[in-house]
Amino acid sequence: MEMPEEIFDKVVKIAQARGFVFNASSIYGGLRSSYDYGPLGVLLKNNISSMWWSSLNSLDVEIYPIDTAIIQSSEVWKASGHLAEFTDPMVDHKPTGERFRADQVPKDLKKEDLTEPRQFNLMFETSIGPVENENSAVYLRPETAQGIFVNFENVLRTMRAKIPFGIGNIGKSFRNEITPGQFIFRTREFEQMEIEFFCDESEEDKWFDYWVENRLNWYKNLGIPEKKLRIRNHEKSELAHYAKKTSDIEFEYPWGWGELEGIANRGNFDLNAHQESSGNDLKYFDPVTESKFTPSVIEPAGGLTRTLFAVLLSLYEEEELENETRTLFKFNFDLAPIQIGILPLSKKEELITVCNQINSSLRSNFRTEIDITQSIGKRYRRQDEIGTLYCITVDFDTLEDNSVTVRSRDTMEQERIKIEELRDYFNNF
Ligand code: GAP
Repeated sequence: MEMPEEIFDKVVKIAQARGFVFNASSIYGGLRSSYDYGPLGVLLKNNISSMWWSSLNSLDVEIYPIDTAIIQSSEVWKASGHLAEFTDPMVDHKPTGERFRADQVPKDLKKEDLTEPRQFNLMFETSIGPVENENSAVYLRPETAQGIFVNFENVLRTMRAKIPFGIGNIGKSFRNEITPGQFIFRTREFEQMEIEFFCDESEEDKWFDYWVENRLNWYKNLGIPEKKLRIRNHEKSELAHYAKKTSDIEFEYPWGWGELEGIANRGNFDLNAHQESSGNDLKYFDPVTESKFTPSVIEPAGGLTRTLFAVLLSLYEEEELENETRTLFKFNFDLAPIQIGILPLSKKEELITVCNQINSSLRSNFRTEIDITQSIGKRYRRQDEIGTLYCITVDFDTLEDNSVTVRSRDTMEQERIKIEELRDYFNNF
């Protein structure tokens, strides 16, 4: 039985070697805890985000999409409480100047060598315009959520939205984490996928439970095994400054259980705060009761890049064959960066021409790749390792019978299929 740390190392190695994730600025030696997403990583990330949007589109309640700016007015962060409250206590180790989160100081350091804890704001500050002064300070958003709250009235008015409804936002967020790490699990720049769901206060518990279940099922549909997921309810003492109640969907990472998504009941904290601070009316008018009120908010807040990592960790498999081990990512058809590999048996021009024709006929419907270099056995292994579900092999018989071999990643079985039937064949998955 393999140790979980070994899985972590192997997944990180394959992710980097195969072009899912690269170290940022690698030609300059890299920047610690900063990562770039390579071609397969981008495809995988796009597939996760489109599965997120399409799951929201299939609900009976309306979830409106929005895409808000990373840099907002500083007033937003003042009103939301992030300027005052979005902090971690931090201590310095005097002999080395190293900085730690107060609750994460290595055990072997002497207490008397540490400074008193100080609050450290996690927001990245920058300035706007050519002159830096006290009015030019702005912040990179630490969550996508506030972009939704400040647009609540815009969406309500332009979409004639009726409660209950939600607004979804996907994009980059930034936190000057004191202890980033574990590959892309905790980084300073990451992507979030957040929903703010607006409802009547009397229904907030019902919607809270609805979203916990809905989001948990979404992770299962990605293919993450049920036993690797659990719900953990926050203790009162852990609740964020805005939350009445929070449940985390946790994933079993190689180092233990950790957060994948948080579902919070934010009550009317944010809308009230922005209402007070901006002086704008952010109330909802209920046409049935003819009353005005500030809705309650249930927030399912997930991490896109963190989900990508959980997917890689949980879908990684090794299989012992007669005289080698094959490694795979067992992505399902929707998730796989490449669904179909197209492989000429050899580099002969005639075979490559047929591969190109097959590729042109499939690539508008499927994610395909032509793979020419190396022996056919090595190419099958590479396609297994990047999680490609099917490989089409064009051989010399193809030139006679217009048929190809289709090999399944999971069963490794091969069947002969007519080229003209390929589209229908793959449309069934
Ligand atoms: N609006 C609420 C909010 O932002 P959060 O629990 O701080 O809540 C939501 O963040 C999700 O964003 C987390 O569950 C995690 O998946 C992801 N996330 C947060 N900080 C992250 C980081 N430093 N690196 C990667 N993902 C992160």
